[in-house]
Amino acid sequence: MGLLEKAQQKKEKIEESKNLQISYNEKNPKTQKGLLDKAKKRKEDHVISYPKPAIEDEKEIEVIEDQKGFGWKKFGSKRIVYDHNINEYRYEIIEPRLSEEEITVKKEISHLFKMLADVDTFDMNKEEKEIFLEKTLEQIIIDNDIKFDELYEDNNFYGLFTDFLNEGRIEFILHNDKISLENTIERIFIENDVKFYKSSKDKIFYHLFRDFLGYGRIDIIMHDDGIEDISCDGNITPIFIHHRKYEAIETNIFFGNEEELNSFIVKLCQISGKQISIYSPIVDGKLPDGSRLQATLARTVTKGSTFTIRKFKEDPLTPIDLIKYKSLSVEMAAYFWIAIESGASILFCGGTASGKTTALNALSLFIPSSHKIISIEDTREVSLPHKNWIAGTTRKGFSASDENKTGKDIDMFDLIRAALRQRPRVIIVGEVRGREAYSLFQAMATGHTSYSTVHASTIHTLIQRLENPPISLPRALLTSLDIIVFQNAVEIGGKMLRRMTSVTEIIKLDSDTNQLIFMAPFTWVSKTDDRFETNQNSKIYNRLKQQNDWTEEQLKMEISNRIKLLEWMMKKEIRSYQDFGKIIADYQKYPKEVLKKVEKEMEE
Ligand SMILES: Nc1ncnc2c1ncn2[C@@H]1O[C@H](COP(=O)(O)OP(=O)(O)O)[C@@H](O)[C@H]1O
Ligand SMILES: [Mg+2]
Repeated sequence: MGLLEKAQQKKEKIEESKNLQISYNEKNPKTQKGLLDKAKKRKEDHVISYPKPAIEDEKEIEVIEDQKGFGWKKFGSKRIVYDHNINEYRYEIIEPRLSEEEITVKKEISHLFKMLADVDTFDMNKEEKEIFLEKTLEQIIIDNDIKFDELYEDNNFYGLFTDFLNEGRIEFILHNDKISLENTIERIFIENDVKFYKSSKDKIFYHLFRDFLGYGRIDIIMHDDGIEDISCDGNITPIFIHHRKYEAIETNIFFGNEEELNSFIVKLCQISGKQISIYSPIVDGKLPDGSRLQATLARTVTKGSTFTIRKFKEDPLTPIDLIKYKSLSVEMAAYFWIAIESGASILFCGGTASGKTTALNALSLFIPSSHKIISIEDTREVSLPHKNWIAGTTRKGFSASDENKTGKDIDMFDLIRAALRQRPRVIIVGEVRGREAYSLFQAMATGHTSYSTVHASTIHTLIQRLENPPISLPRALLTSLDIIVFQNAVEIGGKMLRRMTSVTEIIKLDSDTNQLIFMAPFTWVSKTDDRFETNQNSKIYNRLKQQNDWTEEQLKMEISNRIKLLEWMMKKEIRSYQDFGKIIADYQKYPKEVLKKVEKEMEE
C-alpha cells in the first residue's frame, strides 16, 4: 500500500473515532498492556488524575497557525493556538524531548565539544559552522564510543503522554471499549503533530545544534518573522512575545532555573560583543542578525534577570504595507515620494515604538537610486536597496558618558562629522538625542538632505528639546528642516494601531515675532473616523510648481500618476523593499513607459 493510501485510511479511521467516546478505566486489565501499561507502572498515581471537564468542551483549543521544519533535520515546529476557555492566544513550540538518559549524554557531548572545539569560527559562514559542528560531534561519538541505540526507549512516548495529560490536551472519560486505547493515543498524537524520532542521536543533535549554533530555547522564535519582540522577565514566568498579528502573547517556553537563565543572558551579551556582570548588570547591545538586545543581570535573588530582544526585520515594511495597514493614505505616500525626490528633509517624531524608524525606513525607499546615502545608527535598523549606501553604527567602548569618552568610543557626533567629509547627498540618522543634532541641522543648512527620528510627542516638546541643552539649536536653523512627521500608536477597536497623525511643513521663521510658521498638509482625524484629512496647501507642492514652471493641472497630473502607480503596486502586491525600490527607480528613468504599462494592466 502506498503512503498516500495509508494516510487516507488513517484519516478515515480518525474521523470515525472522533465521534466515539474515549475511555480509560484504570482497573480494566484489558487496557493495561503495551505502552500505556509501561507508562503507568512508572508513575502510578499521577497519570489518572484529571479534573478537566469531559469531551463536550474538548474543542476549546483551536490551532490557528502551524509551521514545521525548524532546526536539525527540521524536527522543530511552532503553532499558535486560541484557547477559548480564557479567550487568549498562545504560542507553542514543539521540539523533540530528551529523556533523563539522553540529557546526560547530551551534557557529556557538549562538554567534550567545548573542550575540543578550540578553533576560531568567527570567519565561517553558517553552512561551514554547521559542517564543522557535525564533523566534530561525529568524531566525539566515535572516539568515546557513544551508543545511541541503547538509549532509545519508549520514554519518549511516556514523557509526552504524561505532559499532554497534565496540560489537558489528552482527556479521558469513563469506560467505553469500542476502540483500543492505543488507537486513541495515536489519534491524539497525530492531532498534536507528535513525531517519534527514530533515534536518540537525532534528538540530541537537535538540541546541540540549537544550543551551539542557534539561540537555544528561543531559537525557533528568533526565526519567526511574525514576532516583533521577545521578553523574558525571569525564570518563573514564561517568555512573552509581541506578535505582529496577535500582539502580546504567552509562549510555552521557560528557563529551567535561575542559573540557566543567567548563563543564557551572559551568552547573549557575549555574542553581542558585550560583557555583563553584577558590577555592570545592564547591557544594551546588538545581536549578529541585527536584533536589539537589552539585558539585566539580577543583583539580588528576589528580582530575577531579564532580557528583551527587539527583532530585526529581514523583510522591512515598505510604503505599500503602511498604506495597507492604513498608517498613511495613498495620497500621503505620493506626497512623500515627490517631496523626497525633490530633496526635502524630514524628521520623524513620536513615542517609543510608535513606528518612527519603520516610517523612516519605508519612506527612504523613495530616495532616488543614484543618490549617495550615509546612514548612522546605534543599532542597525535601516535597510535599503540603494547601491551607493554606506551604513555606519556607533561603537561604545568602556565609558558610559561623554566626559570619560575613550579613543575606542565612536559616537554619532563623530560619525556625522566623518560622514560629511564623504560628501553624501543624503544622511540618515537612526535616532538623534544629543549634540549630534546640531551637526545634522548644520548639514541640512548646507544643502544636504536628512532623515532622522527623535523622541517627542508634540511639536512643542520637540522644539523645546531641540532648543535646550544638550542640543541648543538656534531657532533659525530649524527652518532648514522641511517636514515634521508625527507617528502614534492609537487604540482602535481594542487593537494598538500605528497612524501617521500629522505631517507638518516648516514654512519660515517670522522675523517680527520670532515664531516658526507651520502648515499641515495632512492630519489624521479622530479614532472614530480613522481617516486622513488633506489641506490643499503645501510648501513642497508650491515649490515644485515654481521650479518646474507647472500649472496647477500639471501638478495634479503628476500626483495622480504616482497614486496610480502606488495603487497598481498594491493590487499586484509588489511590496518587498527590493521590488518596490526597483519600480521607483524605473519610474524615475522611464516615467512614460512605466505609466503606460501600469495603465494597461489596471484596465485588465
Ligand atoms: N505602521 C506600522 N504598522 C504596523 N506595525 C508597525 C508600524 N510601524 C511600526 N510597526 C512595528 O512596531 C514596532 C516598533 O516600530 P519602530 O519603528 O521600531 O518604532 P520606534 O522607532 O518609534 O521606536 C516594530 O516592531 C514595527 O515592526
Ligand atoms: Mg526607533
